[in-house]
Amino acid sequence: MARRKIVAGNWKMNKTPSEAVALVEELKPLVVSDDVDVVFCVPAIDIIPVAEAVKGTNIEVGAENMYFEEKGAYTGEISPAMLVDAGVKYVVLGHSERREYFAETNETVNKKVLKAFEHGITPIMCCGESLEQREQGVTMDFIRQQVKVGLQNVTADQAKTMVIAYEPIWAIGTGKTATTEQAQEVCAGIRACIAEVYDDATAEAIRIQYGGSVNAATAPELFAQADIDGGLVGGAALKPDFGKIVNYK
Ligand code: 13P
Repeated sequence: MARRKIVAGNWKMNKTPSEAVALVEELKPLVVSDDVDVVFCVPAIDIIPVAEAVKGTNIEVGAENMYFEEKGAYTGEISPAMLVDAGVKYVVLGHSERREYFAETNETVNKKVLKAFEHGITPIMCCGESLEQREQGVTMDFIRQQVKVGLQNVTADQAKTMVIAYEPIWAIGTGKTATTEQAQEVCAGIRACIAEVYDDATAEAIRIQYGGSVNAATAPELFAQADIDGGLVGGAALKPDFGKIVNYK
C-alpha cells in the first residue's frame, strides 16, 4: 500500500498569536489537498488560536516540543495532556535546534516519543547529521544511533503510525538543500534501520520526511523519491510558497 505523503510546516519561533491567525487565513485556501496530510507545527502560544482558525479545514495542528512528564513542578514546560486538550495531533520531537540549544539528547527524545504515544499524539521525530559528520563519512552511523535510541520501547504498531524527519543540519536555514540523491540515500537508510529494529511491514508503513531548505522548486523531485514521504518545512512554511510545496505535483 502506498504511503500517504505528509507535509508539515515548522514555524519555529516565529509569529505572534495574531500574526499566526493571519498567516493561517492566508494559507488555508492554498494548502487544500486530497492526498497529502498537512500539518502546521506552531509555537505553543499560537496553538489555541491556530486550532480555532483551522477548524473545518484539512489542516492539522502540531506542537514544536513537549515535556515527558504528566504534570507538576516543571516551570515553563508544556505537558502532553495540555497539547491534546488544545487540539494538537502531532509533535515535533528532537529537532536539531532543540538538541543544540536546549540540550536534548537521544534519551530525552525517546522519553518524549513514548509519552506522546501514551497520549495519542503522533511524533515527528527528527534526526540528521552535521556537516562535519557528513565529511567524516559517519552520517549513517550517527543517524542509526539517533533512530534506534529514539525508538527504544516503541512498539512496531506505534512505529508504523509515526513520522521520522531526516534533516541534515547543514541544510537547515542555509538555502542549501541536500541533493535529491543525498536525501533519498539517507531516508532509505533510515527505512532499512527500521526494518532491522522491527520488520519489513513496519519499515513500509513508517513515513519519512526530508527537511532542510525545502522550497517550491525542490519539493517535486524530493517528494518523488521512493523513500521520501513528504517534508518538514521551515522558512518556506511561513509563505504562500507552502501551498506550492503541499501541491507539489
Ligand atoms: P528550513 O526549511 O528553514 O531550512 O528549516 C528546516 C527545518 O528545520 C524544519 O524543521
